Amino acid sequence: MKPGRFITFEGIDGAGKSTHIAPFAALLEARGLRVLITREPGGTELGEQLRELTLNQSMAPLTELLLVFAARAEHLAARIRPALARGEWVVCDRFTDSTFAYQGSGRGIGTDRVRLLETLVHPDLQPDHTFLFDLAPSEAARRRAAARAADRFETEDLQFFERVRSGYLERARESAGRFTLIDGMRGVDEIKKILEKMSVTL
Ligand code: ADP
Ligand code: TYD
Repeated sequence: MKPGRFITFEGIDGAGKSTHIAPFAALLEARGLRVLITREPGGTELGEQLRELTLNQSMAPLTELLLVFAARAEHLAARIRPALARGEWVVCDRFTDSTFAYQGSGRGIGTDRVRLLETLVHPDLQPDHTFLFDLAPSEAARRRAAARAADRFETEDLQFFERVRSGYLERARESAGRFTLIDGMRGVDEIKKILEKMSVTL
């Protein structure tokens, strides 16, 4: 059996990643691959409850860090690892790069403490490939305002999202081989073509 692969989509809120996840997964399915589409925080019943809390309930930054990793531990145990073991591809809307960017950089917790939990929760597993949608926070905020009501993260100011964006770009520099950086200013169709090309090389 060919091993499954673990693909993640990342970026600041409003950068455009959700627009592309289902069409990207459909490309893989068209090649006969079995695909699990999932998201973080969430992906399990307990994880979705933790998501609800994390996105809506005020809390200390460290609590937030522990909750996203609690949801992730459950997600890995109940869904991600079993799917990969069955040879399925997992396409996940956010994973631990989000934690480095949002809690590590955005909230200022720092990479060391995020890395500590990463080592505890998934010492042996990293995404095989990550698409990072990069966009200026001001443009992302404009797009969000036109599209949806804001959650607890989305009401943060532009400086917060500048830190999150820098956190992501630092991650992409550290693990350059794992990342494809996508300029969020490109049109939807243009980005779709980039993902189409990439989908056959993964
Ligand atoms: P995210 O999942 O990163 O938060 P979304 O995919 O939900 O972002 O996109 C946020 C908003 O921006 C939506 O209204 C979407 O239609 C729009 N959008 C997505 N991609 C683009 C793009 N490349 N150019 C312009 N607008 C876009
Ligand atoms: P997202 O699924 O992108 O929400 P939406 O459907 O509104 O676009 O992300 C949920 C939020 O959770 C997002 O603001 C980032 C945040 N988050 C973290 O802060 N840390 C994490 O580890 C994860 C996975 C998400």
